[in-house]
Amino acid sequence: MKTLFWPCILFLFLNVVVAHAEVDPHSYAEPSRVSMTALDLDIEVDFPTKKLLATADLSLAWHDADARSLVLDTRDLDIESVKAVDAQGREQDADFSLDPRDPIFGSALRIALKDQVPNVRIRYRTSPEASGLQWMSPQQTASKKQPFMFSQSQAIHARSWIPLQDTPSVRFTYTAHVKAPKPLRVVMSADNDVKHRLDGDYRFVMKQPIPSYLLAIAVGELDVRVTGPRTAVFAEPSVIAAAAKELEDTEKMIEATEKLYGPYRWERYDILILPASFPFGGMENPRLTFATPTILAGDKSLVGLIAHELAHSWSGNLVTNASAEHMWMNEGFTTYVENRIVEELYGKEVATMQLVVDDQELLVEMQGMTPEQQLLVTDLDGIDPDEGLSGVPYDKGRWFLRFLESRYGRDVFDPFLRAYFDHFAFQSITSTEFLEFYSENLEKKHLGKVSSAEIDAWLHLPGIPSNAPVAHSARFDAVDKAAADFIAGNLAAKDIQAKDWVTLEWLRFINALPETPEIAQIKALDDAWNLSNSGNGEIAFRWYVATVRAGYTDARPQIAAFIERIGRRKLVVPIYEELARTPDGKAFAIEVYARAKPGYHPMTQGSVEKVLGL
Ligand code: BES
Ligand code: ZN
Repeated sequence: MKTLFWPCILFLFLNVVVAHAEVDPHSYAEPSRVSMTALDLDIEVDFPTKKLLATADLSLAWHDADARSLVLDTRDLDIESVKAVDAQGREQDADFSLDPRDPIFGSALRIALKDQVPNVRIRYRTSPEASGLQWMSPQQTASKKQPFMFSQSQAIHARSWIPLQDTPSVRFTYTAHVKAPKPLRVVMSADNDVKHRLDGDYRFVMKQPIPSYLLAIAVGELDVRVTGPRTAVFAEPSVIAAAAKELEDTEKMIEATEKLYGPYRWERYDILILPASFPFGGMENPRLTFATPTILAGDKSLVGLIAHELAHSWSGNLVTNASAEHMWMNEGFTTYVENRIVEELYGKEVATMQLVVDDQELLVEMQGMTPEQQLLVTDLDGIDPDEGLSGVPYDKGRWFLRFLESRYGRDVFDPFLRAYFDHFAFQSITSTEFLEFYSENLEKKHLGKVSSAEIDAWLHLPGIPSNAPVAHSARFDAVDKAAADFIAGNLAAKDIQAKDWVTLEWLRFINALPETPEIAQIKALDDAWNLSNSGNGEIAFRWYVATVRAGYTDARPQIAAFIERIGRRKLVVPIYEELARTPDGKAFAIEVYARAKPGYHPMTQGSVEKVLGL
């Protein structure tokens, strides 16, 4: 008793201090006073009205003896009733008010309570325009037979389909009971049953505590194919076979990551392939990664994206950044781990080529950024976290970890990372907690390897420090030589030895083209290598940007088809940006966008409309 008492008091005290010290600028919630510990959802999915008719029951833990109110995040929710539920389960109406809508953060829902009740129950409906949901007609799906609906909660869109504390600093378990039209399947970021009867009635449990941005649901005509002892793929019937083949290495990826960083703690790892309008490449929803169909290239060249989302099962889902200001701890660690997984499965050469391409693209991207935008630890007060997203948290974050790896060596750095994931498992932390852990477990144990000034430069100065390790790929030397000879006019397009190039070699080559390529050279490349018809989205979007820069309009039909079919922001927005630079290109872009818009997710619509000034 005596030995436990002081550590316990200290622990409680520290918890309170940490909770008070950190404020998430993107949430109205006050988790230091009261926090949600569990969420029970009851949802009816109504396609005709594009609404969820729902009840959310929140279990509460009270931390402040004086607190009598609960503030939740919402956006465009129609709140029907709020009940306080006592320990006996008795409901009583609670007074509530909804603040005016902020365009970025939505409306705080303020609930007044007489006592510190254990539960609050809210009946509500979502809006057809909910920012976190996409409702699709049958025509917008691959199979074209049934409607489809899916969520995308990160960064702050969970609040558009559930009233809750929408901050990654709060974790909770959840259950859900979902009703949907009968032939459709419902899946969630929870315990999906691959043998479900498709009877329109679904129940889910997520027993590990997760932050709100990992809440996810999808409803549609979905088949399932088991790919391993703890892996399966869900997809529309017309893509399921291709998806199962392309993703057959998933179990090997999990094993490789476990070997490096300890057990996979979420039991199953399934993948959902969404319709092509999915606005991201992938989303690490726990137990069920959501992914774009554009990774199904046929040659596994884009499955690094699955390695990335899987890596989040450690960096992000297990150890979470307490707010978007520390996003690098989520995406930077994940991008680092992703590359380690790719190295394990596909070899050092492929992993290194990826690093070289990513480093170069980051440096180019940073040239167009303000010094503030280049910082790893950011100040996002008043800024939409979706806007704050760039290559910096991903690739500068990953580069920083590679810097540490190169100084300490993998023998030391790998066990350190593993210990970090264990130590902070199921917690939400800031850069400060990482640094304290780093200082105790690496710096002090291996004095003289890295100075605090060096750490400081990585975290708090713009640009990439000059002591950053430089990745080098021998295979790229040949690509660079071919590119230089071709650009100088000494090598004809058809004579480039590219027959056996993998995707990354093409990316390297396209990136080596001049800012404004010669139209004749672009035409020669297209005639020789048919790049405008590439089925590989990563090659295609970079190529289309190059054709627009060159003024090569022959590729316009393919560009139109590409941006009408695909809604992934990373692939389409750069093309719109490039087109928007000339009046003629912009007119073309506006015309194509009018056709593409109905199929785009609200997030993609927002990004494109900003670019086109609509
Ligand atoms: N969690 C991100 C996606 C995300 C980030 C959504 C921030 C909303 C806000 C996911 O893990 C991711 O990074 N996806 C990338 C793929 C990856 C291979 C870089 C994407 O979608 O392109
Ligand atoms: Zn990620």
